[in-house]
Amino acid sequence: MRIGILISGRGSNLKALIDTCAEPGFRGRIALVISNRPGAPGLAIAEAAGIPTLVIDHKEYASRTTFDAELDQALRKAGVELICNAGFMRILTDEFVEKWRDRQINIHPSILPAFKGMHVHQRALDAGVKITGCTVHFVRAEMDEGPIVAQAAVPVLPGDTAETLAARVLEAEHKLYPLALRLIVDGRARVAGEQVVIDYDGETLAGPL
Ligand code: GAR
Repeated sequence: MRIGILISGRGSNLKALIDTCAEPGFRGRIALVISNRPGAPGLAIAEAAGIPTLVIDHKEYASRTTFDAELDQALRKAGVELICNAGFMRILTDEFVEKWRDRQINIHPSILPAFKGMHVHQRALDAGVKITGCTVHFVRAEMDEGPIVAQAAVPVLPGDTAETLAARVLEAEHKLYPLALRLIVDGRARVAGEQVVIDYDGETLAGPL
């Protein structure tokens, strides 16, 4: 399966996916990494791994529609079959999302449907929750919505700040995203209605990883 990865910044989840794809017998390979921000640190991570990269700077496009059309064209040209959003911070048009329906996944640093959107860790602290985590889901037009592939739980500890909590959740993200990608690439996770059905093999798919 040819995978395209969309990033906007640091690229630590991208790195986790690169490492997974490099494992022997893994049935997916990353065909292209696209950043909407020139100079995103994740671009250097992809280049170091010998993966083709492309910058499509959203600032150079007059509208979301023209930006998304360029994105779509680049992904198709690279033969991408599955898109992984990895810290991609642009809202996509409904048209783009529909074109890639059930072929685009995203990681979000909360247990969805709780804490959609931005500043999730501070909002989790403000709400006083004792468990948070991360979610990999198929992308739908509504932000941070869509059929859930896998989730990981992470404790909120006394004295946590948004930064310490984000770091703990990020560690879980780096385990969860590879797990979810593997399920999809192996054909063991598929969308049925608005839920993901998994051919279960006894491994941990939720909870602390
Ligand atoms: C990750 O924590 C990811 O879950 C989050 O951005 C960070 C990107 O880090 N994504 C979202 O908030 C999307 N709604 P990374 O660039 O090091 O992978």
